[in-house]
Amino acid sequence: MLIDPKNFPGRAAYQLLASAVIPRPVGLISSISATGAVNLAPFSFFNAVCGEPPMVLFCPTNRSPAKDTLRNVQETGEFVANIVGQEMAQQMNLTSGDYPPDVNEFEIAGLTAVPSQIVAPPCVQESPVSMECKLHQVIQVSAKPHGGTIVIGEVVMFHIRDSVLNQDMLVDSAKLNPVMRLGGASYGIMTGSYDMIRPVVK
Ligand SMILES: Cc1cc2nc3c(=O)[nH]c(=O)nc-3n(C[C@H](O)[C@H](O)[C@H](O)COP(=O)(O)O)c2cc1C
Repeated sequence: MLIDPKNFPGRAAYQLLASAVIPRPVGLISSISATGAVNLAPFSFFNAVCGEPPMVLFCPTNRSPAKDTLRNVQETGEFVANIVGQEMAQQMNLTSGDYPPDVNEFEIAGLTAVPSQIVAPPCVQESPVSMECKLHQVIQVSAKPHGGTIVIGEVVMFHIRDSVLNQDMLVDSAKLNPVMRLGGASYGIMTGSYDMIRPVVK
C-alpha cells in the first residue's frame, strides 16, 4: 500500500510514523524553569546525534502553551537526558501526564532527584545512564498542530552506573535493558543481540 501523508494528516500520520520507526529509546528529560520548578518528562523522539562533541536530541511536539520541558530548556539552556531501564518503566510512564508547570514529576513518580555535576537540573538516580546537557540548538521543524521542535544538547557529563559497563568501558545492552517505545501504547523488551562486523573496503 502506498500512503501519501498529504491524505493522512494530523495525528494519523504521526501514529503511522511512530509505529514504523521502532524501537525508539526513551529519554527521560529533567529540566528546571527560570523560577526553579523541577520538571521530568519522557520523549521517545530521542536519539544520539553527534559523537564529537557528544550530542543528543529530543523532540517536543507542538502545544499551546509549549510543553514545560521545551520552555524550561529555552529559558535555562540546560537539561539532563536520563535513559529508562525496564525496571523503571512504570515510573517513567507516570511522569508523562499533562501536569501543571509547578508539579514536580519526580514526586509524582517516586523517582529520586540527585544533584548533577555541572548543570542545574537533577539526574534521575534510578536511571542507569544520565547525560548532563547544555543546549546547543533549537530547531522548529513544523508549526502545524502535530509538528514539533528538535532540541539538541551537548553532553557535558556522563553518569554511567558501574554495573552496566563492560570491560571495554562501553554500556552493556543486556545490563542496560532499556525500555523500547513501539507504536500505540506498546513497548518492547530486549531479548537478545548479535554482533556483525562491517566490511572493510581497501
Ligand atoms: C514513552 C513516552 C514517550 C513520549 N515521547 C514524546 C515525544 O517524543 N515528544 C513529545 O512531545 N511528547 C512525548 N511524550 C509525551 C510527553 O511526555 C508529555 O506530553 C508530557 O506531559 C510532557 O511534559 P512537559 O510538559 O512537562 O514537558 C511521550 C510520552 C511517553 C509516555
